[in-house]
Amino acid sequence: MTKIGIIGCGRITQRRHAPEYAGNPDVEIVGYYDRTRVRAENLSKLYGGQVFDTVEELLANQEIDAVSVCVANCAHAEISIQAMKAGKHVLCEKPMATTVEECQQMLQTARETGRFLMIAQNQRFNTGHVRAKELIAQGVIGTPLTFKTSFCHGGPENWLSIGPQDGKPVGNIWFFDKKVASMGAMADLGIHKADLIQYLLCQDITEVTAKVLTLDKKDENGNLIEVEDNAICILRLANGVVGTLTVSWTDYGAEDNSTVIFGTKGLMRIYDNSEHTIQISTDRGDQIYYDLDRMMTNVNQRESGVMSEFVRELETGDWSNAANESSVNAIRAVIAAFQSSAEDRTIHLKEM
Ligand SMILES: NC(=O)c1ccc[n+]([C@@H]2O[C@H](COP(=O)([O-])OP(=O)(O)OC[C@H]3O[C@@H](n4cnc5c(N)ncnc54)[C@H](O)[C@@H]3O)[C@@H](O)[C@H]2O)c1
Repeated sequence: MTKIGIIGCGRITQRRHAPEYAGNPDVEIVGYYDRTRVRAENLSKLYGGQVFDTVEELLANQEIDAVSVCVANCAHAEISIQAMKAGKHVLCEKPMATTVEECQQMLQTARETGRFLMIAQNQRFNTGHVRAKELIAQGVIGTPLTFKTSFCHGGPENWLSIGPQDGKPVGNIWFFDKKVASMGAMADLGIHKADLIQYLLCQDITEVTAKVLTLDKKDENGNLIEVEDNAICILRLANGVVGTLTVSWTDYGAEDNSTVIFGTKGLMRIYDNSEHTIQISTDRGDQIYYDLDRMMTNVNQRESGVMSEFVRELETGDWSNAANESSVNAIRAVIAAFQSSAEDRTIHLKEM
């Protein structure tokens, strides 16, 4: 039985962490902390467990083995490090942190304390991505040459509250606050796809060329928000594969969360076809379909698989999704996009 504490009781906890832990027979939720106490109280009523008054009080609880860190981006590193130093294993929401240095401090703390640190990069656990990785490794499209991957929707203000706990269904305005979020669509969406492409192709990103822009999204005063609402990046991987990563908070139509990999023997569309999870078109003209599931969207939510995998790896000691240098590299690539855009040049990640 793994005993869990949850720090940060907003949307991602309400929608995924708390219900997925509560539905896991190998887990007991010991308690919650949120600086907006009513959010912790609401979860306690729904799923059991106590409400703590401070992060320190939660971390001092000897029953708790592991914590989910589900606070705003700017506090991921500090709270994860604090938790590991208090002896807790950590599942930290994405982005891992907001600087490369913070990520490295998190890895260093995990090494020093011997704690399991995992980042909630849930796209890795989508059935289509798991199957696609196996198929690519089997060579069904030959050797990968290029790719395009996108994550585009209408913005985080649509990621609404699912309960009356806030009195009104306000959007996540902190996502637009540079001090709290650090970055906009790149931290929200780009990190998912930077991590995913490294995971699917088993290669780290080595170069980034990008345009990072704020085109349309406005704050409550009608001014453009201070973080980016769009980014278009060209990525080069260590083995020479090149592709595009596109993110947007101004896709006011249907959400796009697709990836296409082009290889020497064909191409693979993943979550790019509403009828089929994976579509492979071979150089011989064959079409092969895998019908597994549909991509999870803000509207179409289902079990992410992250919490069950975290608990499984913790209990078995198979820490295969532990944060590592590639996790840090995905953040490095995201940050490089800003430097590339500002300096109008390609950034080689080894120069950072
Ligand atoms: N994996 C995913 O697909 C996914 C989806 C959405 C959000 N997220 C991530 O989850 C994190 C939380 O996002 P959210 O949508 O739940 O936001 P949210 O605003 O709904 O919830 C954040 C909660 O954290 C609390 N909080 C903030 N700073 C805190 C601190 N220092 N100490 C204690 N509590 C604090 C807030 O009171 C709030 O209740 C973000 O980092 C976001 O990037 C991940």
